[in-house]
Amino acid sequence: MEDIIKYKNSFSTEAKLGFIGCGNMAFSIVKGLLQSKLFEANEIIVSGTRDESFERLKSLGKINTTKNNNEVVRAAAIIFLCVKPAHLDAVAISLKKNFLNPDEIDLSNLNKTLVSILAGTSLNTLREAIPNFGSYIRVMPNTPLQVGAGCSAITIFNASLDLLNSYNAVKAIFCSLGLVDVLDESKFHAITALSGSGPAYVYIIIDALSDAGVKQGLPRDIATRFAAQTLLGASKTVLESSFHVGQLKDQVTSSGGTTIHAIHELEKGGIRNTLFNAIEAATKRSKEMSEN
Ligand SMILES: NC(=O)c1ccc[n+]([C@@H]2O[C@H](COP(=O)([O-])OP(=O)(O)OC[C@H]3O[C@@H](n4cnc5c(N)ncnc54)[C@H](OP(=O)(O)O)[C@@H]3O)[C@@H](O)[C@H]2O)c1
Repeated sequence: MEDIIKYKNSFSTEAKLGFIGCGNMAFSIVKGLLQSKLFEANEIIVSGTRDESFERLKSLGKINTTKNNNEVVRAAAIIFLCVKPAHLDAVAISLKKNFLNPDEIDLSNLNKTLVSILAGTSLNTLREAIPNFGSYIRVMPNTPLQVGAGCSAITIFNASLDLLNSYNAVKAIFCSLGLVDVLDESKFHAITALSGSGPAYVYIIIDALSDAGVKQGLPRDIATRFAAQTLLGASKTVLESSFHVGQLKDQVTSSGGTTIHAIHELEKGGIRNTLFNAIEAATKRSKEMSEN
């Protein structure tokens, strides 16, 4: 909180946090930030290419929106890059166009921090595409940020002393939205596969458990809520207890009981092997994306 206040006090413009891109991730981060009450809606400025994309964000409050990426860079000191990797060049071109225009901001003197959440896009690629920012931070977050239960890996390229405020503020922002760990960039392919894409795997598991409950005669809403709460409760237990995850499994698994019969079916279906393969495929895809 102290780091955020220091950051907010360090300049006087109204919009203090910028977002280039206004899709699912920008929405999740902004929603989480407003819920955490660290920022007001009017302190945030977001750019996109279509009016329709702003509608969902506007439902969160009086967020400033623009179709000009330069306005975002001009207004804020921390800019979150939240476009698809394929849009990186278009964003770079839009910023460089103005860079060449003397009436516009001079990116070569930018004392600003660019925070990229792009999957499979290294800090080097980012710096080459959009040069002249004071510092670059790469984050791999996930969508549960929007309910304060995200997890984000952070890595940094350069934080000169005067940009340390921004770095601390970025860390504080993600800490307010869930779990944060500072990781070497070489681990980002694996973390993208595990936690970046992870919510999708968990939604599939909840949906499947819900279907299975319905097949056994439970009403749909109860089946879905109980499936989701069971995952939430088990996850909270893993994070808060001192037991190994295997011991926690054993605590539910009595001899000859219902759980071990179900586990036998899960193992026959190759659940562990399937998860190994899924994470391996996503890690490989992240590496491929970084090479293209
Ligand atoms: N989704 C996840 O769970 C997740 C998790 C971790 C990391 N990520 C990373 O987060 C990034 C964003 O993902 P997302 O799911 O939020 O994608 P998304 O929903 O498709 O959003 C991308 C946004 O970028 C905007 N955009 C496109 N070209 C632009 C330009 N030239 N200037 C400004 N804005 C532009 C689009 O706006 P318009 O619609 O107006 O064109 C769109 O709102 C990706 O790089 C992804 O790798 C995603």
